[in-house]
Amino acid sequence: MCGIVAYLGHREACPIILKGLRRLEYRGYDSAGVALLDGELNVYKKKGKVADLEKFILEKDTHANVGMGHTRWATHGEPNDENAHPHYSTSERIAIIHNGIIENYAALKTHLLKQGHTFQSDTDTEVFVNLIEEIQTQNACSLEEAVRLALHEVVGAYAIVVLSKDAPNQLIAARKGSPMVIGIGEGEFFIASDATPIIEYTNEVVYVNDYEVVVIRDGQLEIRTKEDVSQTPYIQKLEMELESIEKGGYEHFMLKEIFEQPRSILDSMRGRLELEAGHLNMGGIRAYEQKFVNAQRIIIVACGTSWHAGLVAEYLIEDLARIPVEVEYASEFRYRNPVITERDIVIAISQSGETADTLAAIELAKSKGATIFGVCNVVGSSIARATDAGAYTHAGPEIGVASTKAFTAQVTVLTLLAMIMGQKRGTITDTKLRELMVELDTIPSKVEKALELDHEIQAIAEIFKDATNFLYLGRGYNFPVALEGALKLKEISYIHAEGYPAAEMKHGPIALIDENMPVVVIATRDSSYEKVVSNIQEVKARKGRIIAVVSEGDKVIPAMAEFVIEVPHTSEVLMPLVSVVPLQLLSYHIAVLRGCNVDQPRNLAKSVTVE
Ligand code: F6R
Repeated sequence: MCGIVAYLGHREACPIILKGLRRLEYRGYDSAGVALLDGELNVYKKKGKVADLEKFILEKDTHANVGMGHTRWATHGEPNDENAHPHYSTSERIAIIHNGIIENYAALKTHLLKQGHTFQSDTDTEVFVNLIEEIQTQNACSLEEAVRLALHEVVGAYAIVVLSKDAPNQLIAARKGSPMVIGIGEGEFFIASDATPIIEYTNEVVYVNDYEVVVIRDGQLEIRTKEDVSQTPYIQKLEMELESIEKGGYEHFMLKEIFEQPRSILDSMRGRLELEAGHLNMGGIRAYEQKFVNAQRIIIVACGTSWHAGLVAEYLIEDLARIPVEVEYASEFRYRNPVITERDIVIAISQSGETADTLAAIELAKSKGATIFGVCNVVGSSIARATDAGAYTHAGPEIGVASTKAFTAQVTVLTLLAMIMGQKRGTITDTKLRELMVELDTIPSKVEKALELDHEIQAIAEIFKDATNFLYLGRGYNFPVALEGALKLKEISYIHAEGYPAAEMKHGPIALIDENMPVVVIATRDSSYEKVVSNIQEVKARKGRIIAVVSEGDKVIPAMAEFVIEVPHTSEVLMPLVSVVPLQLLSYHIAVLRGCNVDQPRNLAKSVTVE
């Protein structure tokens, strides 16, 4: 949540910062602002999108080689001009941008008010910058020292950048619990929440760790620990391609990412599924193989779409590896008193690798001695670094706020993991394993075929775009897909949608069904097919409008459903990878037809770094 970007170097800072903010806008888009330092410390900020900020500063003097910018997802205080970042200190000599939450801001504010500080906003961030100013005044110390002392007093999460009019060629930054990466160019430095604002200038980056303080001054980068010990920056090479973070001719990132799936699924299998050699590999589990083989239980923690991928993994792991699996909302798990032992393996699934609840669940499980395995998309992310081992999904940057290709990549990696565990534990026969490997290899082309249904699905979207409710039903492996379909629709089109196990419908939701209720049933040919057909009859008897996702060549359901979407058939175990695709497209087209901003749906942000 919230995107931060900063620049110090020889170029004009403002265009670099604005471009960076556009790239980070997926993290929050309630308001945006910049602070530019060129003798004066000027702050320009505006409610709305980065585009609104750009219009606002058109006539302003933006010349500066040092500056920073912020795009906000509101926590404290409504989205308006005053609450937008950057925030000045009372003297307007210091400015700050902040991603995170300062939990003890109220007590600090009371103290600072007594000291004569004044506040223009409702934010915790403005308290932070005034705290720095107060400490600097009281101690007559450097800005760096004041920031360090202030960090000892704040409780919560932060990624901050601080600029001071009195330190014209200097950027100070720090993080705890919110991501931060430094880009190192020739005589220039970049700071950002992720690498996307940096990639076109340099591929040399340093990921900042929790409790580190970054000082960029006199062409030098210095990183110091909380204990004020200087660290040698660990410079890594970025492997991201610029085109992977651009729309590439598609109208929206979401559509691009849906269409990227044949490729991203292939990338997530690359080097792991070696069909010809008959091997399955996953470097991440090698050192923990015995732990996996002997695990008494697997607990999966995740949120949102990643949680749905976790549900698919529950079916997969229990089916193929015969290990009991529990799938937990990370936010609930961490506040219970869960029973966790050293023989448990916790799998944390996260696209961003920054989700605060998932991170906290990991810390809890770690403290109880469990082995933590991460399935993350963002390389170098906090979750990737907090886990004992893991496998990246390699889906490439996902910019659309609604997760699509990350889901199928997560399911692919978890499928491979379940197959490997089944093989090592001897719970899957060689023949069955071989069949699954062959079938998995065909999934990218089957997803490609499913994508050819785009126009057909768009036509269905036209018919249902004004619906106010939707039900999604599925059983077995398709139950998590029903949940995911409903989530996709509600988050980008704002239509109320519920996903249910098809058989559970008769225990309540059936009361909702009338001639106005669209019911999307995922009814591909699998072990519960006959049962789902009965569930379709039950919907039909109550005049519900059925949109059925079926396996190619189905002869039964077309006679019952109003609309039928035929997807290529695959093994039951792999079906979510294919059956989710039409549901992604359906929600996309409905949202577009309703005039919604699909890439930046209201109230949401891509990376949820608050609890
Ligand atoms: C839905 C969506 C969210 C995320 C959730 C977890 O489309 O994107 O539900 O799945 O916020 O995020 P990650 O996977 O980054 O931990």
